[in-house]
Amino acid sequence: MKGLCSVGFDPEIHSRESFACGHSSLDNYILRNARDDQKEGLARCYVVLEDDTRILGFYTLSMSKILKEDIPPEFLNRKVRYEDIPVILLGRLAVDEKSQHRGIGKFLLVDALKKSVEASDRIGARAVVVDPIDVRAMEFYSKYGFVLLPDSQRMFLPIKGLRNIFAGN
Ligand SMILES: CC(C)(COP(=O)(O)OP(=O)(O)OC[C@H]1O[C@@H](n2cnc3c(N)ncnc32)[C@H](O)[C@@H]1OP(=O)(O)O)[C@@H](O)C(=O)NCCC(=O)NCCS
Repeated sequence: MKGLCSVGFDPEIHSRESFACGHSSLDNYILRNARDDQKEGLARCYVVLEDDTRILGFYTLSMSKILKEDIPPEFLNRKVRYEDIPVILLGRLAVDEKSQHRGIGKFLLVDALKKSVEASDRIGARAVVVDPIDVRAMEFYSKYGFVLLPDSQRMFLPIKGLRNIFAGN
């Protein structure tokens, strides 16, 4: 889908009452919680809009951390001295059902990953992590290189590789 762009979520302007992605927890999040999370500095939310107002899709980013011991050895040198490894959490990502299968999910994901690379250029972060809501979401993230961390439902994508990909663009 051509011509997509993301903007920061503005709860005063962006309409979300009819947003329905197939998961009520994500619908409720954009309807009731995203505004407060943003206000409290707990997450930053970005949206794709129709007619400059109606939300077609959104995602959130936050700072987070994971334990060094939870990262497979191939992704982290064991000599790293810290127990906590800084990461960026792609907390939520959803597209309204009526607009799914048109490339918006992919656009939002790539947009979130680009922002994560930019952020990690300024503030250290090793990877982007996600907590997929179900098996289908897990398949979606796998398609873009996320790997499941052992003994968890959490998926992980190192930023180093992303930097190389986006630098090549
Ligand atoms: C998952 C979701 C964000 C995908 O959005 P979308 O706009 O339909 O996705 P796109 O049209 O951009 O598809 C991008 C690619 O992912 C694939 N894809 C889409 N949904 C997929 C899924 N559930 N599993 C595997 N692959 C999927 C598409 O086939 C497409 O592949 P292609 O580029 O090779 O054709 C959307 O279905 C959604 O909001 N689902 C409910 C909420 C959810 O699961 N969120 C995910 C994280 S919690």
